[in-house]
Amino acid sequence: MDEALRNTVLNMPKAELHIHIEGSLEPELIFALAERNKVALAYPSVEALRSAYAFTDLQSFLDIYYAGASVLLAEQDFYDMTMAYLQRAQADNVRHVELFFDPQTHTARGVAFADVINGIDRALQDARTKWQMSGLLIMCFLRHLSEEEAFATLEQALPHRDKFIGVGLDSSERGNPPEKFAGVFARCKELGLHLVAHAGEEGPPAYIRTALDVLQVERIDHGVACLQDPELVQRLARQQTALTVCPLSNIKLRVFDRMQDHNLAALLEAGIAATVNSDDPAYFGGYMNDNLVAAFEALPLNRDHARQLAHNSFAASFLPHEARESCLREVDAFFRQ
Ligand code: ADE
Ligand code: ZN
Repeated sequence: MDEALRNTVLNMPKAELHIHIEGSLEPELIFALAERNKVALAYPSVEALRSAYAFTDLQSFLDIYYAGASVLLAEQDFYDMTMAYLQRAQADNVRHVELFFDPQTHTARGVAFADVINGIDRALQDARTKWQMSGLLIMCFLRHLSEEEAFATLEQALPHRDKFIGVGLDSSERGNPPEKFAGVFARCKELGLHLVAHAGEEGPPAYIRTALDVLQVERIDHGVACLQDPELVQRLARQQTALTVCPLSNIKLRVFDRMQDHNLAALLEAGIAATVNSDDPAYFGGYMNDNLVAAFEALPLNRDHARQLAHNSFAASFLPHEARESCLREVDAFFRQ
């Protein structure tokens, strides 16, 4: 990639729509929180923990990711984790973030739902004041657990309805199809929540179809498996259903062997509204701009693709109309330079 394109990608205004806040916990912060909270870790040092980040598939990552999250106990822990991520995102010219959080990972350990959401929300408010950065929260249901447990989590969340704008579906994809959660997503839709789901990361294109048809989601998280199904590609392009693609994640979790094999450029060429995101930046070797640079270095992507990605990131966001239009104007102005 030449220097001009690199600067464009780094400096362009952008939104991040697929980041699990627990996946932003850096090993250093895991160790600091473990000490503060007197939690024992299975690894003797930051280096030993980091060297365990050699994943073979989604499940091998999730096992370590849930272990890392075990150091989060108090409201302040959730604040500190979120603030560290937002500061890092701000340095990458991220103007707007839509954060996932996994309340079940914490409530199962006895942490109060209120402490989780209040800590994250307080950091989002501070980022707005400090950096004029907007942030919205999406609560994910863990798909390896039951729909009944998802309903119970929704009940716990409702007193905090003003602090999150939507729900998502994450964790172990294979064997846990979207339709397992048809009832709870229907209830969330009645409540006026936005709906998204991970689908077609490791799972088949059929899961993307049922996420759309049964859950009625507005965006697909990952969705890279769609290219195996040409009719689905046409549909995603026609409907402009956004895919929140996570290039470094897909390499670390072996969805693609090498970045040169990633299908991001093919998705964009097919007219799909793809976006680039970091997923779990502390575990996959990079934040927003690292993902963009890695993809642009390896794939046939040019300045028009950069503009498209910046545009898509805001167009696919759940920002209110006026704020979204204002961000899109900022993208246009940036690319007129
Ligand atoms: N939870 C955190 N990261 C995830 C991913 N990439 N896929 C599914 N669940 C997740
Ligand atoms: Zn994800």
